[in-house]
Amino acid sequence: MNNTQNFIKTKEYKRFAEFCDACMKYKYIGICYGLPGVGKTLSSRYYANWDVIEKQIAHKTGKKIGDDADEQILKARTIFYTAPSVKATKMSSDIDTIGGRMGMVKAIYKINTQGDEEEYYPLGSYEDIDLIIIDEIDRLKLQHLEQLRDIYDKNNIAMIFIGMPGMEKRLARYPQLFSRIGFAHEFDNLSKDETHHILEYKWGELGLSIKLEDFSDYEAITSIIKITNGNFRLIQRLFTQIDRILEINGLDMITTEVVEAARDSLVLGIK
Ligand SMILES: Nc1ncnc2c1ncn2[C@@H]1O[C@H](COP(=O)(O)OP(=O)(O)O)[C@@H](O)[C@H]1O
Ligand SMILES: [Mg+2]
Repeated sequence: MNNTQNFIKTKEYKRFAEFCDACMKYKYIGICYGLPGVGKTLSSRYYANWDVIEKQIAHKTGKKIGDDADEQILKARTIFYTAPSVKATKMSSDIDTIGGRMGMVKAIYKINTQGDEEEYYPLGSYEDIDLIIIDEIDRLKLQHLEQLRDIYDKNNIAMIFIGMPGMEKRLARYPQLFSRIGFAHEFDNLSKDETHHILEYKWGELGLSIKLEDFSDYEAITSIIKITNGNFRLIQRLFTQIDRILEINGLDMITTEVVEAARDSLVLGIK
């Protein structure tokens, strides 16, 4: 996501956030599945405030750990982690390290702002953590999931696995883990109405420089809704192409023809 693009709290995001809250409340393992591009990764990062937290716990040359922290670190209770596509054997220690750094930055921030060293020192990596979200769970082989089960069993926390539809069937082949799954949640596409609403009123938040007046007619909007079928990533891609086509042809109106030309230039199996 670039700087000018904002996160939109869609209905699907709100449903997802409720699912996360419920997993946390019952300390369950939850699975969340949905098609690529619907917004699973962005929603998880938003829920965990990860764009902020990731920066505050990062190693930076020439800076001491905790130098960049602000009070947001004190509220951080969720780890967001993307399953690696290779070398998944080190996953446990990677997640431990993230948890450890969050605890350390919290403690340092408290010491720096409130004093009193001893009292604030964190005891373990997951001391102050309620939830770990693991994205791209489909990448993991069954034997690597064992590491996640181990973290779950040893700590009093919730976990959420994010993946593609069908992952629950794969996980079912691993009964030790599957039996611990408490909730399943489907992350759906945007509805037609909501896509409409976003296209009409939330251009700016999507980082697009297009306005409602740029559409020649309602049909052009309708065709965008049809082509993208409520998939966020497709909306973004389609608009990149629309922008390009307007520029190349020196046009300033989005007509149905422009939308269709944009669709045809997308390298995607969409109709
Ligand atoms: N809530 C949102 N607000 C704004 N843009 C979004 C939102 N959700 C998704 N997007 C857009 O859609 C793209 C795909 O989202 P992403 O979370 O990567 O999908 P997934 O993980 O389900 O494949 C993002 O890069 C972003 O451009
Ligand atoms: Mg994703």
